Amino acid sequence: MASTCVVGLQWGDEAKGKIVDLLCEEHDAVVRYQGGANAGHTIVVGGVTFKLSLVPTGVLRPGIVAVIGNGVVVHPPALLKEVETLSAQGVDIGDRLLISDRAHLIMPYHLIEERLTEESTSAADRLGTTRRGIGPCYRDKVGRVHGVRVGDWFDADRFREHIGRIVAYKNRLLNAVLPDYEPLDAAAVADEYLAYAERLRPMVVDTTAWLHDAIDRGVRLLFEGAQGTLLDVDHGSYPYVTSSNSSGAGIAPGSGVPAREIQRSVGVIKAYTTRVGGGPFPTEQDNEIGERIRRVGREYGTVTGRPRRCGWFDAVATRYAARVSGSTELAVMLLDVLSGIDPIRVAVAYEDRSGRKIDRFPSRLADWERCRPVYETLPGWTEDVSKARSVDDLPAAALDYVRFLSKQIGVPASIASVGPDRTQTIQLM
Ligand code: IMP
Repeated sequence: MASTCVVGLQWGDEAKGKIVDLLCEEHDAVVRYQGGANAGHTIVVGGVTFKLSLVPTGVLRPGIVAVIGNGVVVHPPALLKEVETLSAQGVDIGDRLLISDRAHLIMPYHLIEERLTEESTSAADRLGTTRRGIGPCYRDKVGRVHGVRVGDWFDADRFREHIGRIVAYKNRLLNAVLPDYEPLDAAAVADEYLAYAERLRPMVVDTTAWLHDAIDRGVRLLFEGAQGTLLDVDHGSYPYVTSSNSSGAGIAPGSGVPAREIQRSVGVIKAYTTRVGGGPFPTEQDNEIGERIRRVGREYGTVTGRPRRCGWFDAVATRYAARVSGSTELAVMLLDVLSGIDPIRVAVAYEDRSGRKIDRFPSRLADWERCRPVYETLPGWTEDVSKARSVDDLPAAALDYVRFLSKQIGVPASIASVGPDRTQTIQLM
């Protein structure tokens, strides 16, 4: 038994892709278990930048099998485009990509429905989604009647009938609420998706059975979380979350592999905090500190290009996230971005307006509104740490900062990252 997972402990964009890529050396297959093309991973290998969204990061390593598990929502044109871009960049996917026949398909009406929901909500209440159809697709999955799964592709006649019924229903609904709605043509939608099926069919398997067999054969699995624990639909800052279990808790339902198979759980944190879209963010710095972090850390969304909201590290939120995701070790990313910021602050608790301490991650939106961060102040460092390759190369203040975060969260830190390249990695244990 040698399975590992890599899960973000904040609101996404923790640079998990780099850690997954590094850990591929010790694993044979990488498994995505939730989310879809809302995720964006940027990995730099030998100066070449790869942008991945639906395809598990593992494909960049020759010989690694990449599995898109049942919990993922697949938008076929996005997936095909990504496969083509990777192959143009010299990554030969061959037969190394497997797609679950239980995964749900994102359909054209999902994108329309999401636009409608977002645009009919006031700017202040808007979730600020990535508009990739994620929420509406998961809603149809859970609603059951209108769910479309990858495996449905295999019987073209039934697929056409199923799509015919759904599109008729969606057209009636959307027509009623959207004055300029142009009804979708069910036959055209079915044809389009059956054409995608032709190209993706060789990759479609029962990934749950494949993973069970793989475990029996001693294949070392690496589970790759998308988004982050604080965006988990059950455990995150609801309703400002994504529509899947993006914490470690999502691995079992999203892959069919029980939690007891995973021994090592790497919680990935940035040395500060970011989030994209709406929702609570007690340590947000809407000022020059936030701007500096955004500029130095190039904090713009990989998928949507939106500027990310930036702020200080929040130990209350990450402590909670590490517990939800069962982290056994931490990878501290983007340490280099904090060089030159002095002093550095870390939220170690929250308090309400009357000074009453709140030391738990709130479950209700109303509680979030009362939270003010209680900061601890730490000395910063001025040295450029991007060339550091071992603990000895780090300034004492930077190492102390990493130790402080680890102590606050209660989980040992195993890796510090000082830049996007594979080589810019410091082993701490
Ligand atoms: P959705 O996942 O597109 O429905 O968006 C829901 C929320 O999750 C929005 O605030 C998005 O900005 C956020 N989100 C979704 N995917 C990511 C990601 O990969 N990184 C960071 N935030 C994300």
